[in-house]
Amino acid sequence: MEIKQKSTWEKVELGTCYYPEHWDKSLWEPDLLRMLEHGITTVRIAEFAWNLTEPEEGVYTFDFFDEFLDLAERVGMKVIFGTPTATPPAWLTEKYPEVLNARRDGVLYRHGTRRHYNYNSKKYQELSAKIVEQLGAHYGKRPCIVGWQIDNEFNCETQQFYSESDTIAFREFLQERYGSLEELNRAWGAVFWNQSYTDWAQVYVPRTTYGDGTNPHQWLDYIRFVSESTIRFCKLQSDILRKYIKPGDFITTNGMFGSVDNHRLTRDCLDVYTYDSYPNFAYVWGDPKHNNTLLDRKWSRHLMEVRSVCPHFGIMEQQAGAGGSVGMDAPAPKPGQMMLWAMQSIAHGADYVSFFRWRTATFGTEIYWHGLLDYDNLPNRKMDELKKLHARVEAIQEIAGSDYVAPLGLLKDYDNVFDSQVDAWHGKLVSASETELFVAAQLSHTPMDTVYLYEGTSLEELKKYRVLVLPHGEIMTESKARLLENYVRQGGCLIVGARTGQKDIDGHCVMAPVPGLLASLTQSSVKEFTWIGPGDDPVPMEWNGRSLETGLFNEVLTAAGEDAKVLARYNGDIWYTGEPALIETKVGDGKVFHFGGTFTRGTVSALLDYLGMAEPFGELAQIPAECEIAVRRKGEKEYLIVLNYGKKPQEIFLKQPMVDLDNRCDVEGTVVLGSYETKVYRIKG
Ligand code: GAL
Repeated sequence: MEIKQKSTWEKVELGTCYYPEHWDKSLWEPDLLRMLEHGITTVRIAEFAWNLTEPEEGVYTFDFFDEFLDLAERVGMKVIFGTPTATPPAWLTEKYPEVLNARRDGVLYRHGTRRHYNYNSKKYQELSAKIVEQLGAHYGKRPCIVGWQIDNEFNCETQQFYSESDTIAFREFLQERYGSLEELNRAWGAVFWNQSYTDWAQVYVPRTTYGDGTNPHQWLDYIRFVSESTIRFCKLQSDILRKYIKPGDFITTNGMFGSVDNHRLTRDCLDVYTYDSYPNFAYVWGDPKHNNTLLDRKWSRHLMEVRSVCPHFGIMEQQAGAGGSVGMDAPAPKPGQMMLWAMQSIAHGADYVSFFRWRTATFGTEIYWHGLLDYDNLPNRKMDELKKLHARVEAIQEIAGSDYVAPLGLLKDYDNVFDSQVDAWHGKLVSASETELFVAAQLSHTPMDTVYLYEGTSLEELKKYRVLVLPHGEIMTESKARLLENYVRQGGCLIVGARTGQKDIDGHCVMAPVPGLLASLTQSSVKEFTWIGPGDDPVPMEWNGRSLETGLFNEVLTAAGEDAKVLARYNGDIWYTGEPALIETKVGDGKVFHFGGTFTRGTVSALLDYLGMAEPFGELAQIPAECEIAVRRKGEKEYLIVLNYGKKPQEIFLKQPMVDLDNRCDVEGTVVLGSYETKVYRIKG
């Protein structure tokens, strides 16, 4: 997959989300001037404002945003203009109810919130195309506009679409994928429970069925279909906008949600990917003990995913205040956290950080989603922090465009991502292992990338990583197996976990020893397997005198080749005690590890130690587990960013001379980071 490597922004810039339609016009100018004073150079506008440009079908009015854009041009504010298709107007949904999304039992989702449409309604596509055409033609050449946002957060709110248009489009999708009902019946294993289809008219998107026994192969194809539908709807708009935008202006969309191949969405439709980062959700959804999932630091995992789509990305919505719609409560960011979260985004590759939102709405569903300013519009500590962030960003500008450096890669592909949404076995394994892998990598300061495998992924892309982990790649294809084998032969190190190679592209289990297509590479096979039930004791494995928990699931392994060496064995009150749990096999210049469990913090850190991978930047600095590091590189220059997520001060020890970019001074040795403090250093080479 071709991924754009260059940044869209020449320097790191700050922005905010502004809703001119929510405020009296007399506030517009003071608002924009105040933003500029605080270092905000760009506003995103208009993404829900369909009625303001098409108050009735076919009647277009441009005055409202013309007036706003005139002002933006006068004061020197840049604008990202949103297409309004996330919120079809009442006149539209009333006249054409077929544009509405439906529940699985067919009941339509009515007007009254947002994202109530479906991607496949021909009528909605036609009306969306018309409004986008009008907006592009009218506003496309406005000098203040620098970019366009398509829709708002595709697949947020729901990733399931059950309207009649979806069924029609699903049939077309399947006809193209399989060509015949015979093939469809084969791929869906339709002979099971007598589900075979004899006419395309019998095929639907999943419908309300008894229990939760809907055909899993149908679900897998349905998610692939939702992904295609999302991309097609986005492309409909980007193709139109391309006719009108000025050279250099970008097209993006915001957020990162499931059931869509975000990489292909970006490649096919966008110039740059932008994410919406709300780390404070950790304090609403996080574990009550506040220590298991790294809370807000876990957003680095999302940013790692975003970086895989687009190494130099933007944050279209960066949390500024306490979050909460009506019905959700969350603590306010503590002093320093707003800056910390912005720096977290920047550390991972964001060159644009735009805060949600300028001022908290005084009406509507989001009266508790707090902006930079509160309802009273008075100066406050968030605005002070914004000012400090601006000064900071100016001080560290030289890091703009530098690349994040990670020696460790987490392998993924969309067939497996989608299958893990459908298959509870798969999903549970992936969720446990990816969390633990991330946490272990964070705590040992081992920067990690997510690396997506496509049919076209090149060996060079994989060779950038010393170690790649494919936790539970259940669906394996021949070309991916070949690529992974070449990576290992040419010196790479691959680690695979339980159930890898268990399934084929349709999600059928293979009739072969697991790890299936990878078995000749790993020279291992699975004799039997079991979940570790909630009533069972954890099962450890013994490795070099260490006893390490093997997680939720155990495969009893067999070494099946001369080069395969058993490294660790299960050891517990279980019938497979003494049997292999971890096998290392040397292949060509590299090696592959087959681990029979789900990854736990202990197993990951033992593997990283064994491979000499923990603290790969340990020669630069000694960092406590409470802090995250990011290393960025641009040509000869290398930077170290350190982020303290805790309230308690943390001491770090710089082992090499560095320049503190904020204070423009040389530092070495002990440095103390205060609550939520971050540091940016240029390493003096
Ligand atoms: C995002 C969305 C915004 C706003 C914000 C706060 O998901 O794009 O429109 O809703 O969250 O809830």
